[in-house]
Amino acid sequence: IRSAAASLSRGNFAKISSADLSFFEKSIGNDYVKTKEIDNYTSDWTRQMKGSSECVLLPTSTEETSAILRYCAEKRIAIVVQGGNTGLVGGATPIYDEVVLSTSRINKRFHLEASSGVLTLDGGFILADADNRLAERGFMMPLDLGAKGSCQIGGCVAAGAGGIRLLRYGSLHSHLLGCTLVDGKGTILNLGGRLRKDNTSLHTAHLAIGSEGQLGVVTSVTMGVVPRPQSILSAMLAVSSYSDCIRLLSLARSKLGEILSSFEVIDGDTMKCVERHLPLKNVFEGEHNFYLLIETHGSNGDHDAEKLNGFVEEALGAELAVDGVAANSESERAHMWRLREESPLAAAKDGYIYKFDVSLPLEHFYRLTEETREKLKGRARVYCYGHLGDGNSHLNVTTDGEDEELKKELSPFVYNWVVSHGGSISAEHGIGQLKRDYRSLGKSEEESALIRSLKDVFDPHRILCPYKMIHSQE
Ligand code: MLT
Ligand code: ZN
Repeated sequence: IRSAAASLSRGNFAKISSADLSFFEKSIGNDYVKTKEIDNYTSDWTRQMKGSSECVLLPTSTEETSAILRYCAEKRIAIVVQGGNTGLVGGATPIYDEVVLSTSRINKRFHLEASSGVLTLDGGFILADADNRLAERGFMMPLDLGAKGSCQIGGCVAAGAGGIRLLRYGSLHSHLLGCTLVDGKGTILNLGGRLRKDNTSLHTAHLAIGSEGQLGVVTSVTMGVVPRPQSILSAMLAVSSYSDCIRLLSLARSKLGEILSSFEVIDGDTMKCVERHLPLKNVFEGEHNFYLLIETHGSNGDHDAEKLNGFVEEALGAELAVDGVAANSESERAHMWRLREESPLAAAKDGYIYKFDVSLPLEHFYRLTEETREKLKGRARVYCYGHLGDGNSHLNVTTDGEDEELKKELSPFVYNWVVSHGGSISAEHGIGQLKRDYRSLGKSEEESALIRSLKDVFDPHRILCPYKMIHSQE
């Protein structure tokens, strides 16, 4: 997977010297400048993307981050910014010898203003930890994703993370009110604020969403959080055809209305892959072509159950679903979610993996999987799971070993197919190094030029995250 980025030559950046290491040690403490045993920082979650680095820096505050960046800008030292290292496009993985700047220790400040539901927290806070703290006060993080136990809120903003409840609560653009961004010159930028409404200027804080470390390091986030739902119900449906899945989405929208919070799909091959590689069992007997996981968030358990049961009954009565199971306990609900959230893990265990994360108009959503399967018949296994309610397909292809030929063919095929069918080559995972060569597909030259100009404002020496979404030599 490294090939796209590695095909670029090393930028004209300085090599780390012992004087640089001494400066870092003096700035943030000896223990937090790591030069050995840094494999966890130089490879990604799949361990398929591997890079190298001379050192990993773990600052503890915005000010320490600023001192590091100011120094690196002056010395032209390249940096890669890393949060929980759960990204799926190699955006946080160094390529040559970039210094890894990890935000893991910037995780002290957590302030919730309960009357307005506005939370300010340090960028290194782990999403699940933040959510657990909010639970004590009756609130919830509006975003949730499989990586919640490790991903950090600053990284979520920088990655533009979507997740499993976007259908109900909206994207990070609906929640982010402000952030602190330390730019590529070391300037501390306090962007936006803590007001729910402030329309006095450009919404600069939103530039951080999906910025992948290109503009700066997100060291603090201010966002709206939501009341924790008093009732959360889940159900799964087994479905024979993709067209019935789409009819069920319309039915769910009309029957469940505002309480519909997730509408996820797992295709039949993915479910078999999950059962093959993980100690998890399908909730249905027998094999089906599609499984839908539907969740509601509401404030009245009886009403919500009546609505969800009514929806499942109608789905079965109209023969749109062949079987349906409602979770009757927290452990049954957790089991359903494990089937979906551990689908990526099962696919990763299935062999060498080629991951895709695309947005498609619903009429084309599953045709991509079918056509890819047809094209790769006998050469690879093809899985599809994802956020059907958002039109976001996670197509995963696996082979027994790394297959260079297939790799060369597959990405152009998928990405051209997606763009020519009105989709986006990255729905929520970003560009990173994995999709670098395809980043302008579907974008105008004017927009690409604007993005490069913005990069020059925030990071004029182009030391931040080179060889990725915006390349240092463009
Ligand atoms: C998911 O929805 O499970 C995540 O985006 C991870 C993945 O796509 O593999
Ligand atoms: Zn996803």
